[in-house]
Amino acid sequence: MLRDMAALKQTVVLAGATGYIGQHVAAALVAEGYHVIALVRAHPGHVGADVLEHCEVRVTEVTDAATLQHALADIHAHAIVSCLASRNGAPDDAQRVDYGANRNLLDLAPALGVSRFVLLSALCVQKPRLAFQHAKLAFERELMASGVGYTIIRPTAFFKSISGQVARIRDGKAFLVFGTGTETACKPISERDLARYLVDSIDDAGRRNAVLPIGGPGAAVTPLDQGNLLFELAGKPATFRRVPVTLFRVAIALLAPLSRVIPALAAKAEFARIGHYYATESMLVWDADAKRYDADATPSTGADTLRAHYTHALSSTDGDDALGAHKLF
Ligand SMILES: NC(=O)c1ccc[n+]([C@@H]2O[C@H](COP(=O)([O-])OP(=O)(O)OC[C@H]3O[C@@H](n4cnc5c(N)ncnc54)[C@H](OP(=O)(O)O)[C@@H]3O)[C@@H](O)[C@H]2O)c1
Repeated sequence: MLRDMAALKQTVVLAGATGYIGQHVAAALVAEGYHVIALVRAHPGHVGADVLEHCEVRVTEVTDAATLQHALADIHAHAIVSCLASRNGAPDDAQRVDYGANRNLLDLAPALGVSRFVLLSALCVQKPRLAFQHAKLAFERELMASGVGYTIIRPTAFFKSISGQVARIRDGKAFLVFGTGTETACKPISERDLARYLVDSIDDAGRRNAVLPIGGPGAAVTPLDQGNLLFELAGKPATFRRVPVTLFRVAIALLAPLSRVIPALAAKAEFARIGHYYATESMLVWDADAKRYDADATPSTGADTLRAHYTHALSSTDGDDALGAHKLF
């Protein structure tokens, strides 16, 4: 049910409200008193979703400019917040969503009267090798050149993305690491802290026209650190199984040439590249001069710790189904 509109603050258009981070952003915007217009596509799972209860839901296709314009024709908004992202990272879907849908929103920004476009991006675009990273970067560039006030937020890994093995540890299995488990690191951030950061950015003058890398509180953690923490909290001896990164290289070497003959394999080759990227690259700020990732240069925000998150996750199976593709990592 909609709350009393007269008592609410300005209007914020939220795209990607049904996603992992988007849901938390919707809740944070509502908690701040914003009138939230949540753009959702027609999807049976979205009907009656609790998170959208206090939002004004507009069912539309953000990937279609004319449909989107029609859906927002009567709106005047203070800001747009986009948490849109391709669900699978395949090249054509990334182009349609990470670039195209965001472009459609940006084109409407002047007519809506928005003073800030807050974009949830990803830290990995600083070293772009994957199709979805190029799609995100292409939109970032156009947003920066648009004249619309912007804040581009590039987080490191979400708690979700490094929780894929909680169920394995609960079940007494080994923790899987690529290579030695020490080649990469991240400063994980909770969905709640990230959502707060996004919402706070709407009216933060210091974050206007800025591109902001952001991680959670505490030191950077490697996959080996994550495994050791999980075993400690579960009260079990640490056992690791090492998976060679070469697996991805072999898959790429086989699938890339084959996809030129069988186009349907192109998406699978891209998924292997995505797996290889996350198995070999850190989610920390990249120092291009020193050619290394720099944990100290990666800003921290928020209060939720990985230790508290893992403690909760080990004692409950609630989050297991929400992991989707993140189960691998
Ligand atoms: N995972 C990480 O550790 C991590 C780290 C840093 C940055 N990021 C970035 O954070 C962003 C958000 O991640 P997330 O996990 O919250 O994403 P998510 O759960 O996959 O949510 C994606 C959102 O985009 C919407 N969407 C996707 N395709 C659409 C389409 N064709 N038409 C309309 N809406 C569409 C989804 O709507 P439906 O519900 O209808 O599908 C959903 O609301 C991504 O850009 C990601 O790269 C992730």
